[in-house]
Amino acid sequence: MVIETEVGRLVKMDVVHLLKFRDNFIGVEVHVHVSGKYLKLNYANDVFVQILKKLQDKGVNEVFINEDDCKRIIEEVKQSLSDQSLNDTKMEKARRVEVVSAAFETVKGVINQLGVEPETVQLLKTINTRAMALLQDSPSLLAFIKEFKKNCSEEFLLCILTNYVMSLIIDKFPWKSAQVKEKGALASLMCDMTLKADDFAQLRAWNRNGGELAERLKRHPVDIAEKLKKDKLLIPIETITIIEQHHELPDGSGFPYGISANRFNQLSAIFIVSQQFTERLHDSRYDYDKRVEIITEIRRRYSSKVFDKAVDALALVLA
Ligand SMILES: [Fe+2]
Repeated sequence: MVIETEVGRLVKMDVVHLLKFRDNFIGVEVHVHVSGKYLKLNYANDVFVQILKKLQDKGVNEVFINEDDCKRIIEEVKQSLSDQSLNDTKMEKARRVEVVSAAFETVKGVINQLGVEPETVQLLKTINTRAMALLQDSPSLLAFIKEFKKNCSEEFLLCILTNYVMSLIIDKFPWKSAQVKEKGALASLMCDMTLKADDFAQLRAWNRNGGELAERLKRHPVDIAEKLKKDKLLIPIETITIIEQHHELPDGSGFPYGISANRFNQLSAIFIVSQQFTERLHDSRYDYDKRVEIITEIRRRYSSKVFDKAVDALALVLA
């Protein structure tokens, strides 16, 4: 959300994000909100990190940057993902993984504040393509997981693995196409974009054991879908439907709406099965021998026509 202030149009950013992706943010004007006023921090580039860390120590977790700087940062991210930068033969693979992951976190942060724009949606697509290329380049899926695990967030790794599994499942259907895969991939990149790192553990615990879940977490599929529906031409409706349904269950015990089995379309079911498989494999510390056990669990929990088809296709992919 853009805030109109006496010092211009400002956008909120988490201090932790600025610190994590300092290379993108060094040199931008940073403001803090104190006693109803937005004050510009005075710093030289080399003390940027120290000032932010001091703010954190004082319990300040959010700062504000100019809307225009936000746009400039997006340009920098675009540049970092360009063929010329990312395919530089001198760049180590670990560094490429870091670049793609940092790009994702930064674009996600900007979308959260400014909503989706054609440039940011295009960047998400590029991020997915780059991550898939890194995956195809790896000697094996497990080698890729090992590499990514060290150099990116857990959530981004899960997201990319979901997209990979989903793409293999879609290939088993006659209507497979690059466009359909892209619709699913966008859903994967955006379905949890308002959540914080701590929220994922709670959601995964709910997925395993059920029980209570904070209202804020139950609302995240709706909150994100509403944000994306504002520009109907930018995000495909299938992507929004997947986001709305990604925590639903065919027996009606899911959230946010508790919909019944006949409301899921085939693409949503494929997405959910891919995401569930990936998360369960992650929880099993990527023990690939557990795949049959995991498929059985998913088949039991998601028993209904469209889910059965998706699980059958997954079983074929993993055979
Ligand atoms: Fe979610």
